[in-house]
Amino acid sequence: MKIAIVGTGYVGLVTGTCFAEVGIEVTCIDIDQKKIDNLHKGILPIYEPGLEEMVSRNVEKGRLKFSTSLADGIKDCDVAFIAVGTPPGEDGSADLKYVLAVARGVGEHMNSYGVIVTKSTVPVGTAAKVRAEIEKALARRGETIEFDVASNPEFLKEGAAIDDFLKPDRIVVGVASARAEEVMTKLYKPFLLNGHPIIFMDIPSAEMTKYAANSMLATKISFMNDIANLCEIMGADVNMVRKGIGSDARIGTKFIYPGIGYGGSCFPKDVKALIKTAAENGYEMQVLKAVESVNEAQKEVLFDKVTRHFGGQLKGKKMAIWGLSFKPKTDDMREAPSLVIIEKLLAEGCTVTAYDPVAVAEARHTLGDRITYAKDEFDALIDADALLVVTEWPEFRSPNFDVVARLMKQKAIFDGRNIYDAKELHEAGFTYHCIGIRT
Ligand code: UGA
Repeated sequence: MKIAIVGTGYVGLVTGTCFAEVGIEVTCIDIDQKKIDNLHKGILPIYEPGLEEMVSRNVEKGRLKFSTSLADGIKDCDVAFIAVGTPPGEDGSADLKYVLAVARGVGEHMNSYGVIVTKSTVPVGTAAKVRAEIEKALARRGETIEFDVASNPEFLKEGAAIDDFLKPDRIVVGVASARAEEVMTKLYKPFLLNGHPIIFMDIPSAEMTKYAANSMLATKISFMNDIANLCEIMGADVNMVRKGIGSDARIGTKFIYPGIGYGGSCFPKDVKALIKTAAENGYEMQVLKAVESVNEAQKEVLFDKVTRHFGGQLKGKKMAIWGLSFKPKTDDMREAPSLVIIEKLLAEGCTVTAYDPVAVAEARHTLGDRITYAKDEFDALIDADALLVVTEWPEFRSPNFDVVARLMKQKAIFDGRNIYDAKELHEAGFTYHCIGIRT
């Protein structure tokens, strides 16, 4: 099989590389010449564990190619994935201009039957718009080439994307013809060896599945953050409550960890977009609106704890921050709670020194030189009045607390991810604050 992936961002690059890994001939296309030049040199636009090695292995084998030419990539291909960005517009709805521009380009250059698949997260109804764009472009050429559209939402998590792609829980594909179903079955066959299913459905349902999945996960998190906050007020311990409810298989143990709010490029954007889609169609997503506002408030919880601890006297205090990315194993700073926390600390006149294993370059884009970037986690602690643990990178989990205590001016730890043991920290002489856990 021969496929093209249009849009070599996060989803596109992982998708293309993983398909190449199982032996499929893949061309990844992007209009950004610099990005493509870099990829030819083995420089990736994103950080994802294991991806760099996999890209170079498949490039060497000749199965993975990069190009800026849609015309070349699309020629003779069985499947073309549209994996370009859908940035949220002013009003929160997904902006489809890039998706539809690709559809136009496909219509202008395709030369044989193919399935055109939307992989980007797109609102219900987008595949139909893609079909219309391709048809218009074909008509302009006076061509009548047969094609199908399909929707194949992506469920990969940053930091674990390769594993998620190679060993998926499920693959969801929305199709409108038996022929497209056959092509997509053949394409995904190598990924179904672990017994998980490929679920075929109609196109609107596949499009909706993506939003429903992310919205449900975001709901679990906001729900638990609400419970954690109430636990603090009522003297309960959210860790106990989490275990207590998680052992009910209907609830499950995953995605019920309270913290400082969900971030990233997906949950905030998709929750907003679904609320918007519903509103445009005369329906109010009441639960999701609450999910969103709980999340906004939760990003400030750690700052509020710091403020209370210091009796509102934050001016001139030196704050150490461990972790900047929205979650571990990524350099993604989009909607990262760290940004909200740091802005609030700076506004109060604190000085901030942060350490993150990979996200510093990304963080600089937004924070510039308004904060100091430490060379390692201990360097960040020198003379600090407090340590705020913002991202639960594995290397922060078990530091030598004697060293931590020696470096800091005041022994106060604010743990936004509940990674430490309150008893241990008290014994080491720290004041310890976390989220919803009795300390
Ligand atoms: C999410 C979904 O998990 C993927 O299935 C989906 O494909 C992806 O969005 C997407 O739409 O492309 P991702 O944004 O990479 O993936 O990150 P997650 O690992 O899901 O974490 C999201 C946020 O939730 C993080 O800020 C994390 O800290 C937070 N979180 C997660 C919690 O606060 N508590 C939890 O129990 C779990």
